[in-house]
Amino acid sequence: MKEELEKLAAEAKHKIEEADNLSQLEQIRIDYLGRKGCLNLFFKKLGQLPPEDRALMGQLINQSKEELSQGLTRKKETIANLLQAEELEQERIDITLPPPMPASGKRHPITRTINDIVHIFSRFGFQIAEGPEVELEYYNFDALNIPKDHPSRDMHDTFYTRPGILLRTHTSPIQIRVMERGQPPFRIIAPGRAYRRDATDASHSSVFHQIEGFLVDEETTFSDLKGILNAFVKEFFGKQSVLRFRPSFFPFTEPSAEIDISCVICNGKGCSVCSQTGWLEILGAGMIDPEVFRMVKIDSERYLGFAFGMGIERVAMLKYGINDIRLFYENDLRFLEQF
Ligand code: PHE
Repeated sequence: MKEELEKLAAEAKHKIEEADNLSQLEQIRIDYLGRKGCLNLFFKKLGQLPPEDRALMGQLINQSKEELSQGLTRKKETIANLLQAEELEQERIDITLPPPMPASGKRHPITRTINDIVHIFSRFGFQIAEGPEVELEYYNFDALNIPKDHPSRDMHDTFYTRPGILLRTHTSPIQIRVMERGQPPFRIIAPGRAYRRDATDASHSSVFHQIEGFLVDEETTFSDLKGILNAFVKEFFGKQSVLRFRPSFFPFTEPSAEIDISCVICNGKGCSVCSQTGWLEILGAGMIDPEVFRMVKIDSERYLGFAFGMGIERVAMLKYGINDIRLFYENDLRFLEQF
């Protein structure tokens, strides 16, 4: 009976070793250690043994049961550990993978152009100023020495909200508002929206942007204007850019100039963008008219100043090679995402 028990125990041990999942182990437990399992059968057979052997045999059976049960527990743990390791491996998170990035917005090309221009002028010591878009006729025209019969006052150029009040047609009224409030010296850069009753086409929009700049000090000359604009253009468009000053007229500057930049597309050789001239107009400028100083009560005997006004859409179109101003306002993502 002892050999029979040992054989059975060895067989169970072997099965435990071979088992590779928990349900197999459970089956082995039921078969060998269960209430009706084969080890318990030995207790029933104890009666067949001579009384002096029964106690020993009983002990052996219990010992086998104990060993098997320990074996089962160990194996269960091994399998559970394996399963857990497998699970962990499958659920492993690769922390080196880049996370899905939220789609981030971008600055509108007009905003970006304004920022770039303002940044350059702030390095030249200019400070930002702003003014209202709904403006008094006085600031937009009268104080800028634009006479009542000047063509730009015509209803076709200007949106009036009511008599005496209008949507500013340029950023020049900011000159007046700043000078009225303070004392020279001034170094101001003033970006903003402007409005004109223009029909919209590839190069005109009734709402557009300008950037006004002006400097007032005791010994300001036309050369200072040239120097600053030259430095700006080289910085903004690149070292190869050249400026050309043409005599012009503005009621609020004397002398006045219109300023061209060598065509950014053909570099001055002549192409369709510059109508074969090699030049593109980007600015109006001049020395501030004494009449303007008089309006804002600045002593024109003591102070001199220059002012300039630049069309932002114009400059952005040249810089980024955009051939239709309407692209700026249509909010087509295919366009906007390129900046
Ligand atoms: N305000 C002028 C315009 O809109 C531009 C300008 C500004 C000219 C300052 C001279 C000086 O055309």
